[in-house]
Amino acid sequence: MGQSHAGNVEVLHYWTSGGEAAALAVLQKMMKDEGHTWTDFAVAGGGGETAMTVLKSRAISGNPPSASMIAGPEISQWGDLGVLAKLDTVSASERWDQLLPPVVADIHKYQGSYVAAPVNVHRINWMWMNKSILDEVNGGKVPQTWDEFFAYMDKAKQSGYVAFAHGGQDWQDATVFEQVALGVGGNEWYQQAFVQLDPKALGSDTMTQAFTTFKKLKSYMDQGMPGRDWNLSTSMVIDGKAAVQIMGDWAKGEFAAAGKQPGKDYVCAAVPGTQDAFTFNVDAFMMFKQQGQDAQAAQQDLSRLLMSKAFQEEFNLKKGSIPARPDVSLARFDSCAKQSMADFQASAKSGTLVPSFAHAMAMQPEVSGAVYDVVTNFFNDNDMNAAAATQRLVSAIELVK
Ligand code: BGC
Repeated sequence: MGQSHAGNVEVLHYWTSGGEAAALAVLQKMMKDEGHTWTDFAVAGGGGETAMTVLKSRAISGNPPSASMIAGPEISQWGDLGVLAKLDTVSASERWDQLLPPVVADIHKYQGSYVAAPVNVHRINWMWMNKSILDEVNGGKVPQTWDEFFAYMDKAKQSGYVAFAHGGQDWQDATVFEQVALGVGGNEWYQQAFVQLDPKALGSDTMTQAFTTFKKLKSYMDQGMPGRDWNLSTSMVIDGKAAVQIMGDWAKGEFAAAGKQPGKDYVCAAVPGTQDAFTFNVDAFMMFKQQGQDAQAAQQDLSRLLMSKAFQEEFNLKKGSIPARPDVSLARFDSCAKQSMADFQASAKSGTLVPSFAHAMAMQPEVSGAVYDVVTNFFNDNDMNAAAATQRLVSAIELVK
């Protein structure tokens, strides 16, 4: 398969941390094994904001890569530009419609045709806890409520640890804020506010309470927090310097790359108040129209590999996520991945599966950009009160939606 047309793929991504790079290497090797060459187009910056900006400038100059990482509804905006390659042949012969749950499939189609291949489901509402710190200062008890969580933060701080590992970058602020908001306000309110953009929910006291709780976390962070990359904060938890990080399960890729195991070295648990919910994002590779048979054949092979069982198993073992294909065996996966899958299925049934706005799943980029600004400005401004942040959020969304 594919060998008759050895071609090159240029792939834009932002997977530059240790765990991310190890996961991507699985794909690079599989493409090479099929006889293709890989041009790596890495744009550093967690969450992918910079990568998306670079992608736009490449596409505007008429020279997009073969494939780009992407997530969520932004795919349809690219579809409107007429630059995407349709994956009808490979998706039909590999039966993607039969393999993917419709909610996942639909995001990756434009006008009925697949234009992107989904590779995983990341869960965002996770806490990553250093186990020996949890044992030492909290008797191994995982905090279940915000009160318990802050009591744990106090004890960790008093014992000389960095209680909360965070990196002050807008997307990381938004990631933590959305989890606090979900934990404080619950699933229904989260959907009204951040998915339906209902001004009443956005301007509610619950939002003010979410902002207040979010700002409270700041007193548990260390001096090195501003601007720090997410994976360096994960390392602080891995190395026993910090007690907890709230981050999507790409953080688990860092623990895995460092040879750490859940239950032994670290503990994964849902963010307080979000135990019954599942905030998700799906990483996908979107394909651009290519000139020349070899490049097209290589792109088709790339698409086929991305959705193959073998790739989704090996890749997700390293990435920290669970496979997008529900038929991949989890036998080789760890307990956090198994819990993620169980909670994903349970939330899908009970209607508590919520798209992450911090990771491009709930809003178009103009809207999430406005939310990022309000959240980050509030977080960095020690004088702004939470009620003012709520008002700013309502007005900012009104302007862009
Ligand atoms: C992506 C992950 C990535 C993380 C940090 C998220 O938006 O979905 O694949 O590892 O950002 O860069």
